[in-house]
Amino acid sequence: MADTDDIRETKNYFPGIPARHEGFYLKGSHQLDWGMRNRLARIFRPVSARTVMLAIDHGYFLGPTTGLERVDITILPLLPYADALMCTRGILRSTIPASFGNGVVMRSSGGASTLKEMSNEHIAVDIEDAVRMNVSAMAVQVFIGGKFETQTVNNMTRLVDMGLRHGIPTMGVTAVGKNLARDARYLGLASRICAELGAQIVKTYYCEEGFETVTAACPVPIVMAGGKKLPELEALTMAYNAVSQGASGVDMGRNIFQAEAPAAMIQAVGKVVHELMKPKQAYEFYLTLKNEQAKERK
Ligand code: 5RP
Repeated sequence: MADTDDIRETKNYFPGIPARHEGFYLKGSHQLDWGMRNRLARIFRPVSARTVMLAIDHGYFLGPTTGLERVDITILPLLPYADALMCTRGILRSTIPASFGNGVVMRSSGGASTLKEMSNEHIAVDIEDAVRMNVSAMAVQVFIGGKFETQTVNNMTRLVDMGLRHGIPTMGVTAVGKNLARDARYLGLASRICAELGAQIVKTYYCEEGFETVTAACPVPIVMAGGKKLPELEALTMAYNAVSQGASGVDMGRNIFQAEAPAAMIQAVGKVVHELMKPKQAYEFYLTLKNEQAKERK
């Protein structure tokens, strides 16, 4: 039983001060439940309202991708610099230490490989497993304009429903097929469909013309997809342009783990995303870290 000997008079009610009610720093997220906002706060840094998400989920359709052959060797050293990690449950359970305290965005769709029709995906996890793994969000590929468009939209809406029941956000990933243009019209269409149908985060590609219309018309945070490996300065420039034009961060894979110096690259991306460091300065920062790391290895 609690000790009741020295119970003091209560007096600090501050009747003249209205109760604080804080909004939430992320676009479109202020009316979500506490658990969902708490999970979003593990992905998006409260100070900048942006994220550096490291995507390493490629194996789910590509097998052992260059740079991901040994996740334990190449990726674990990058984790301290990632606000969030996007990966499959297989890699999470087998290779990522449970002490990793930042956001985990679990790839939750799959079922097609590069050998077959890529859009033929299904939901690939039970919501119970997402809860068991304590993930911060679930990611699902949505192929707008693809052969299995409706099926993939349905995958997303079912995950959104399950996620809402358990306080887990869903990230709609707008996949681009070989024959679809990556322009603002298409990306705006795909992103808006994901948000309208309930995704709390949207991942989409950057486009040179009109990207600000894609972010403006999407009522929830957009994270920029990385795409194929570019020279480091170009990748940093693309990240800078995306966040300057309204993206709430990046979800980059190959442009980080296939960089010449991945640890230096993810830190340079962090400077761009959180501090809006200009691309040339971020590239200088990358080169300095890269040289320091090379010296340490000697
Ligand atoms: C495709 C994906 C990928 O699985 C992956 O995350 C892509 O990363 P990157 O293109 O930056 O290497 O989500 O849409």
